[in-house]
Amino acid sequence: GNIVFDYSKASGFVSAEEMDNMKSAVMCARDTLMNKSGAGNDFLGWIDLPSDYDKEEFHRIKEAAKKIQSDSDVLLVVGIGGSYLGARAAIEFLSHSFYNVLPKETRKTPEIYFVGNSISSKYINDLKGVLKGKDFSVNMISKSGTTTEPAIAFRVFKDMLIEKYGREEANKRIYATTDKEKGALKDLADQEGYETFVVPDDVGGRFSVLTAVGLLPIAVSGADIDRLMEGASDARLAVTKTPYESNGALQYAAVRNILLRKGKTVEIVANYEPSLHYVSEWWKQLFGESEGKDQRGIFPAAVDLTADLHSMGQFIQDGARIMFETVLNVQESPAEILLKKEEVDTDGMNYLAGKSVDFVNKSAMNGTIIAHSDGDVPNLVIDIPEQDEYSLGQLFYFFEYACGVSGYLLGVNPFNQPGVESYKKNMFALLGKPGYEKEREELLKRL
Ligand code: PA5
Repeated sequence: GNIVFDYSKASGFVSAEEMDNMKSAVMCARDTLMNKSGAGNDFLGWIDLPSDYDKEEFHRIKEAAKKIQSDSDVLLVVGIGGSYLGARAAIEFLSHSFYNVLPKETRKTPEIYFVGNSISSKYINDLKGVLKGKDFSVNMISKSGTTTEPAIAFRVFKDMLIEKYGREEANKRIYATTDKEKGALKDLADQEGYETFVVPDDVGGRFSVLTAVGLLPIAVSGADIDRLMEGASDARLAVTKTPYESNGALQYAAVRNILLRKGKTVEIVANYEPSLHYVSEWWKQLFGESEGKDQRGIFPAAVDLTADLHSMGQFIQDGARIMFETVLNVQESPAEILLKKEEVDTDGMNYLAGKSVDFVNKSAMNGTIIAHSDGDVPNLVIDIPEQDEYSLGQLFYFFEYACGVSGYLLGVNPFNQPGVESYKKNMFALLGKPGYEKEREELLKRL
């Protein structure tokens, strides 16, 4: 099945006429993207990636995954931002909900832990504890090779590897995903002989999930990366070839810009499956970093439902009317649990006997979509046929493409991220990094 974008529930907020009126602007944004004539056009390598990827490297990724599966109880995935969220989103979407605590015989693939996405000593220390007595490998992912968070974690776990295996064997357990020829990580990898994988020059971090950045950890989890690429490739054909009137990605870009111009400055992605939490996190980075600049953009937020209906649900239903909601609807649950009738109906749930838990979940979703719409929150729906690789590949590509078009429609460069540098400058100054002496003095006065 295919990913479907459905804005029929938001027809009270976005009319057919408004969609028509938006068409020429959307098509112009789309052409800017496809003709590579807009700002940031040196970062459009992701557009053709699903068909035009390095097949030799793809094969090496699978071989490396097999080796890690055969010699490691644990894989550590070290990275942050675009070098982190895609892999985590995919692994959590595709794997068992309790992947890491399953018995090894059932899971058959290594436990996978993510590190280098914070600077928490507790987290690092606790993870060191988890590794005691276990064989492990490390996939260090950093395009620049100099990002503080992953660099720190890498130092710690590289040391641990060397202590456990000696330098030579440790080097065989380190996989570096980085720039093809430059940068600190590439230099170290060449020096130590780590196996390396490439983050292509023309693919930015948040668009890199379908490169080795995402693919190696995803393959280690046992997921089928061929199917993932097939899904992305089919979505690419659909969103690049289908006319506006039936093109979900273009329509999504249109609708969100129409809503923004009506004052809806927050978009909340809502899922009804806990395993989509990191898909939402990935989506937040994709849209937040692409559109939030030049004092513009839609603030991307996310809720996990129904959990957050018991907390943020109040605000969404009834608080400041600043948001619209995009529901990620997994149509086919991979599991079926039927509710039974109980002798004594203490909790009053017997009326659900014979119904499935997923029926209850979908009823909660459908009821919520209507309730939130009635509360003046336009609800958009993205139907995801199944929780499998093919659907996820489509979803990744659908959002990437919609994001490129939407960013151009907004009038920004969707492919840069100048704003993420400011905190680094201050942090380096406070840390006493050479070259930041003057900034340090200024900052210390302000602390
Ligand atoms: O989108 C981005 O550019 C960032 O999120 C980066 O991916 C993140 O900062 C990690 O950068 P690097 O891969 O260079 O370590």
